Amino acid sequence: MDGNTLAKQVRIGVRKQTALLPEPPGLAVIQVGENPASMVYVNNKRRDCERCGIVSYAHHLDEDAGQAKLLELIRFLNGEPHIHGILVQLPLPKGYGSDAIIQAISPEKDVDAFHALTVGKLYLNSGPAFEPCTPAGVIALLDRYEIDLRGKHCVVVGRSNIVGKPMGTMLLHRNATVTICHGSTVDLPSFTRQADVLISAVGKSGLITADMVKPGAVVVDVGINRIDDKICGDVDFDEVEKVASYITPVPGGVGPMTRAMLMTNTLKAAQKYFMRGK
Ligand code: GUN
Repeated sequence: MDGNTLAKQVRIGVRKQTALLPEPPGLAVIQVGENPASMVYVNNKRRDCERCGIVSYAHHLDEDAGQAKLLELIRFLNGEPHIHGILVQLPLPKGYGSDAIIQAISPEKDVDAFHALTVGKLYLNSGPAFEPCTPAGVIALLDRYEIDLRGKHCVVVGRSNIVGKPMGTMLLHRNATVTICHGSTVDLPSFTRQADVLISAVGKSGLITADMVKPGAVVVDVGINRIDDKICGDVDFDEVEKVASYITPVPGGVGPMTRAMLMTNTLKAAQKYFMRGK
């Protein structure tokens, strides 16, 4: 499943919509410290914003700026009319309480969909709310390839707030039968082998091997792992490709879709803002 191509199509759609607004959507991206992976992600987001007609505002704080300074910046951005979305790049350096930071973002600007109110709405299926970008990107890919989820056994490996938990919830809302596995799961292969759709979001290269996959299964790899200078996912792609009916590569699978969904959420935030009459 080709995330690059679908992400490009999504961006073209977003660009058409942003052009119809009275002013371009604004996305504030806050980075704290110098995490090298975060620098790459933030740069990619900036480039995607340019392609979509979204103005990105980069805010870079020193690692030792402190929680109070970060909260002050978020409160300022909450009140800024040209900013429709606010994203704090995670993970934050040691000493920051990411929960308090996330809850400080106005739910109307919560394009990451990490705020408790947004998460609650997703859980209750009582939209319209933002959907978290990575699980939304996975669903968009599955939809694009017309993979029917109703009644299918979807096994999610990983239970993070960013991917595993919301992924399970969204699959459930599409009438899948959902199993969530994690680090304490006894006999992981016995679960993954039952999966019609297997989604791995752990961050451990080589975790999913061909013997763990049912022939014909759909395999989605959310992992991003750096080995020397190469990026790979959780799935042993070369071997699993031989058994799976569909599989996402890393890079070029879920990653670009995550960013495309961020663009979609930022567009939505701006559309809602202009519909409210500012
Ligand atoms: N770090 C890894 N993934 C994400 C994401 O989706 N959003 C933010 N803000 N930080 C991340």
